[in-house]
Parts: sequence; C-alpha cells; structure tokens
Amino acid sequence: MVKKAFQISMSKTFKALVAREESDSRFTHSVENWDTDRLPQNEVLVKVHYSSLNYKDALSATGNKGVTKQYPHIPGIDAAGTIVESEGDRFLEGAPVIVTGYDLGQNTFGGFGQYIRVPADWIVPLPDSLSLRKSMILGTAGFTAAIGVHHLRHNKITPDKGTVLVTGATGGVGTMAVAILSKLEYTVTAATGKMDQEAFLKKVGATSIIHRSEVQDDSSQPLLSSRWSGAIDTVGGIMLDTALRQTKHNGTVACCGNILGHELHTNVYPFILRGVNLAGMDSGNCLMELRKELWTKLADEWKPHMLEELAKECSLKELDKEIDRILEGKQVGRVLVNLDT
Ligand SMILES: NC(=O)c1ccc[n+]([C@@H]2O[C@H](COP(=O)([O-])OP(=O)(O)OC[C@H]3O[C@@H](n4cnc5c(N)ncnc54)[C@H](OP(=O)(O)O)[C@@H]3O)[C@@H](O)[C@H]2O)c1
Repeated sequence: MVKKAFQISMSKTFKALVAREESDSRFTHSVENWDTDRLPQNEVLVKVHYSSLNYKDALSATGNKGVTKQYPHIPGIDAAGTIVESEGDRFLEGAPVIVTGYDLGQNTFGGFGQYIRVPADWIVPLPDSLSLRKSMILGTAGFTAAIGVHHLRHNKITPDKGTVLVTGATGGVGTMAVAILSKLEYTVTAATGKMDQEAFLKKVGATSIIHRSEVQDDSSQPLLSSRWSGAIDTVGGIMLDTALRQTKHNGTVACCGNILGHELHTNVYPFILRGVNLAGMDSGNCLMELRKELWTKLADEWKPHMLEELAKECSLKELDKEIDRILEGKQVGRVLVNLDT
C-alpha cells in the first residue's frame, strides 16, 4: 500500500488549458505549462488522462463569473485518471478514479489540466467494467442523464407507461439521456433544433425525432394534449414549461439546464390536475451514495451501446474550437478530451 504526504512530493510540470482575464477585461484561453505547486492543498493528487467538454466548462473558459470567480483558472468539471499521492490510506497509488462536479473546474483547478488536487470526498473509484476513456465519454453529461433516468424510475415511469421526451437531444446531456433510456428499452422522442441530425439521433436510440418548436408553446393554455410519460429537459425556459404542460397524469419531468435562461414561467395545473412531478438534477452535489450507485449502473446495465460513436476526441490544443461550438449550440454528442496527446 502506498501512502504519500504532499510535503515529500516533488513538484511536476504539466500542461493545462488556462483561462485568463486580460487587462482590458477580455477573457482568453490557451495551453500553458503549470507546476503542481500551484494546485490547491487538497488531499489527493490525480494524474488526469481524460476529461470532457460540458457547457459549464465553456462558460468558465470564457469568463462567466457565475461559474468561475477568480482567474487565471483551469476549467474542466470532469476528470478521470490515476492516484499519484494521497494523504491517508483511502486510495492506492495508481488506482483509477473519476472526479466530476463539486467545485472541480469552477473555482478549483479542473480537468483541463494534466493534474488535479482534490478532496478525497470528491473521488469515485472507477467501476471495474468501465475504462477511464469511456467514463469521460459519459462524463458529467452521462452522469446527469443518469440522475434524470433515476428520477423517472423512482417515480415509476417504466417503459410500458409511454413515450419519454428528451429536449436538447443532440447536446451532451441530451445524447446521453436518449442513449441510456434506449438501452433500458424506453420509447424516446428526441426534440432538437438540428433536424439534419436525425440519423445520429436514431443511431443513439431515439424512436422518433421532432423539431424543438413542438416543445415551445407560447400560448397561454395551462394544459396541452398529454404526450409524454416523462421528460428529461436539458434546455429550461419555455421548453421546460411546455414539457410540463404536455406531460401525462402522474408523469415526471426532470430538468437540469438553463440554456434558455434561469427563469421558469409556468402554472400549477400540470401539478394539481395531472399530478406531474418536477424533479431537479444537480450532478455537482449529488450525494456520494447515489453517485457511486449511478456510476456502477453506467458501467453496466445503463451503459449505452456504441459509446465510442457518441463522442469525438480532441487534445487540449484542439479544445478552443470545441468551446466555441458548444457555446453556439452546435455540438452534436460528446467531446472527449485526451490529456495524454
Ligand atoms: N444541473 C446539472 O447538474 C447539469 C449538468 C450538466 C449540464 N447542465 C446544464 O444542462 C444544459 C445542457 O448541457 P450540455 O452540456 O448538454 O450542453 P450542450 O451539449 O451544449 O447541449 C445543449 C443543447 O441544447 C439545445 N439548444 C441550444 N441552444 C438552444 C436554443 N436556443 N433553444 C433550444 N435548444 C437549444 C441544443 O440541442 P438541439 O440542437 O438538439 O436542440 C444543444 O445541443 C446546460 O444548461 C448545462 O449547464 C446541468
């Protein structure tokens, strides 16, 4: 068993995508060499092999102070790698681990660097049947989608109850939600603004594809024709409001996103006349017990088919254009970041 304390460790130089606030208040990001001495004094040093790009990372990289207050900063809310040093005896040197959420990549230097130093309580041991690479194809997007699926199942939304709606379906969380639901034999309708991605969404597992405008009802009707047994909404705003009004009796709508803003204007009738549940997904602060349970499921019975085909890979250097693309809402599927290239 290897136990090392920080005090005896030699500092290491590593590459990281660093976001900076320039003197004219512009934000830039580029790959820099940093030293592990600059990482925070947390308990566990992890060598990061893979990360992934999430919408929040793009906000952090471009100066969104709601996500990251202090710059220079290394974004990356996801990291998968191996233990280098650990205070105490909870982890063995070389053990493969996943770190997602908490404060990683927000105000703690994150997975877009080849090393992170994090509290031991943030670490999930990599399940046996999952590789580091696949864990980051899933990443926070897959984990968040798993929370949504967990809410549906907890509320007895089984495949026989009818069709489940997924909004923002070609995005990271959307793609993973479609893929997990399909693996679990749900009938899934994918709502998207990218109708040219029908073939992709069918491959992921969607049964039918609709244009997102079908889930953007701006009438004042308090209830709409009921279509969905449940929904996983990644967009928010009018799409969440419409999904609630389109959901059948005793359905569940799980929401995680604020692509259309943070406000929700809706009415009480879906709740008091149809018994619809609105369930929140907070991947960052999901309790460790559920976190481990969901990662175990993602490694096994919930693991999407063809995971490799749902992501493209990039290096730290290539992240720049992927950040622009996710901010424009143009990403399709997941972006895996390989820190070893
Ligand atoms: N609460 C949590 O724990 C948690 C975790 C992960 C993500 N999130 C949030 O969930 C949201 C999605 O994250 P993500 O990583 O999946 O982002 P993403 O990969 O950028 O996907 C977002 C998708 O939303 C759709 N979209 C983009 N602009 C839109 C618009 N103007 N109107 C309607 N739909 C639009 C697009 O899908 P289509 O083109 O297919 O419609 C886009 O691909 C973000 O708000 C993110 O911050 C929250």
